[in-house]
Amino acid sequence: MLTNSYFHVAADTEQAAADCATLMLDRIREAIAERGRAMIALSGGSTPAKLFPRLAEGEVDWTRVHVFFVDERMVPPTHEASNFRLAQSLFLALPPVPVANVHRVRGEDDPEDAAAAYEAEIAEAFGLDAEDEEIPAFDIVHLGMGDDAHIASLFPGEAAIDDLDGIAAALYVEKLDAWRVTLLPAVLQAARCTVLLIAGAGKAAPLEKVLVQPYNPKQYPAQLVRHNLEVHWFLDQPAKPSEEGMSHGRA
Ligand code: 6PG
Repeated sequence: MLTNSYFHVAADTEQAAADCATLMLDRIREAIAERGRAMIALSGGSTPAKLFPRLAEGEVDWTRVHVFFVDERMVPPTHEASNFRLAQSLFLALPPVPVANVHRVRGEDDPEDAAAAYEAEIAEAFGLDAEDEEIPAFDIVHLGMGDDAHIASLFPGEAAIDDLDGIAAALYVEKLDAWRVTLLPAVLQAARCTVLLIAGAGKAAPLEKVLVQPYNPKQYPAQLVRHNLEVHWFLDQPAKPSEEGMSHGRA
């Protein structure tokens, strides 16, 4: 089988984020060269705070880059928990990425309305034919992974993990007692390039399970992207899985 998973283990989170940014910038430049634009989807959380400033330093024609979000907390765009706010402050306002190229989830709106509007905005940006139920192929999907192996806002046990047709959905996350809007599995799996930035000792055990355990994304949602076209796992030393785990991941 073609090797599709690449493990990049760095000494620390800063270096892992720098390595992740370097690859993302390469893929962005390649997409622009090949297709005239780059369509990328970013996650939130804590590790992006180290990644985003590195992206902002990149030598890229940002007018040709469209930025979407893998998921969003249903809060206003100025709220400290907003994934948009994090990206805007550390990345998007700096190169700058044209406002029209930033496609945020309207976290201030009703979740279902926000999800429907976001799905429509994605369909328009990609020129999708709604009747054909086309799935958009992002050039890059950037993910983190929780210590419960969640990605995006797809947490263990989430019914939407079985939704292989939709583009985005509003989900009430019991564990957080909060609403989220998230991209759905088919979109995450359609990415040309998938990068996961995973850091900290707390991630080593769940990552090992993601790589070694039989495919069961309801239990280990990060397994959804294990066999994507091109998957890059950017890790710091504490998050490093076993050699067995990494060889499973490459299989
Ligand atoms: C979010 C993210 C979420 C994140 C993981 C890992 O909105 O919180 O999309 O899926 O990627 O929780 O977060 P860390 O970056 O803190 O490891």
